[in-house]
Amino acid sequence: MERSLSMELVRVTEAAALSSARWMGRGQKIEADDAATTAMRDVFDTIPMRGTVVIGEGEMDEAPMLYIGEKLGTGHGPLVDIAVDPLEGTNIVASGGWNALAVLAVADHGNLLHAPDMYMDKIAVGPEAVGQIDINASVLDNLKAVAKAKNKDIQDVVATVLNRPRHEEIIAQLREAGARIKLIEDGDVAAAINTAFDQTGVDILFGSGGAPEGVISAVALKCLGGEIQGRLLPQNEAEIKRCEKMGIDVKQVLRMEDLVRGDDAIFAATGVTDGELLRGVQFKGSHGQTHSVVMRAKSGTVRFIDGSHSLEKKPNLVMKP
Ligand code: FBP
Repeated sequence: MERSLSMELVRVTEAAALSSARWMGRGQKIEADDAATTAMRDVFDTIPMRGTVVIGEGEMDEAPMLYIGEKLGTGHGPLVDIAVDPLEGTNIVASGGWNALAVLAVADHGNLLHAPDMYMDKIAVGPEAVGQIDINASVLDNLKAVAKAKNKDIQDVVATVLNRPRHEEIIAQLREAGARIKLIEDGDVAAAINTAFDQTGVDILFGSGGAPEGVISAVALKCLGGEIQGRLLPQNEAEIKRCEKMGIDVKQVLRMEDLVRGDDAIFAATGVTDGELLRGVQFKGSHGQTHSVVMRAKSGTVRFIDGSHSLEKKPNLVMKP
């Protein structure tokens, strides 16, 4: 992949964030998602690459755009696989909450796990605790390992968990161990990435969320030198069959190299609503301000980018009421 692809890709997440951010707090998550998807797709097609969506908005018959198998890009340039989540946190935008992102990940063709749309159990940490976690170990043992790696007491470790009834047991064990907990309503991609940045105050992510989000998080953590481990959690016979068809044993621990292969990958995200790492879109008169991060695994470069976008020159970036 060419180096310049990173900068091109951040234009994609910027457009998706600008388009969906107008829907903040309006209670219309589908409209917000559609706006992000349309904008993302439009910009993708201006980028010199031969891309195929491997994680997207759904199968071809259920998603009009950014469906699995869709070809993106100008048709010239590197042959890449693309994972997108135009709006990661549709409910977050609908309610004006924290940490909604427009995100994508790109890797050389064949290097991203084609994660099915089902749950994945996850555990994620930043670079300091790499090699210390184990999805098969207890919550307490993982907390001890992270505390040791980061030279902290367990009481000072902050764990993020999606606030769901299915996580009752994890939450109980975290409380029992004395760790601090950030219960989030949605958005476990941001939660996974946050473990790699000290300023977010988050050390570890526990619990299950979407498997596609797990692969996207793995690309980000690969770029950042962090780690995520996952395990697919099929909920019914059809999902079990789907795993079998993919050759994935449902008990298999999916490690970094299973989620994203090779030494190169690019991750880009733009904040839609404010979060610990990225500010959300702000509209000021004729301009929209964006805050993005783009990173590349091969070089390890992480760039934060402030964008100021003229909404007069690019009127298609504004929500149509
Ligand atoms: P959407 O943007 O598709 O609504 O996903 C938000 C999210 O919170 C993800 O971050 C997370 O992986 C998943 O949903 C959790 O699923 P569930 O809401 O079913 O627990």
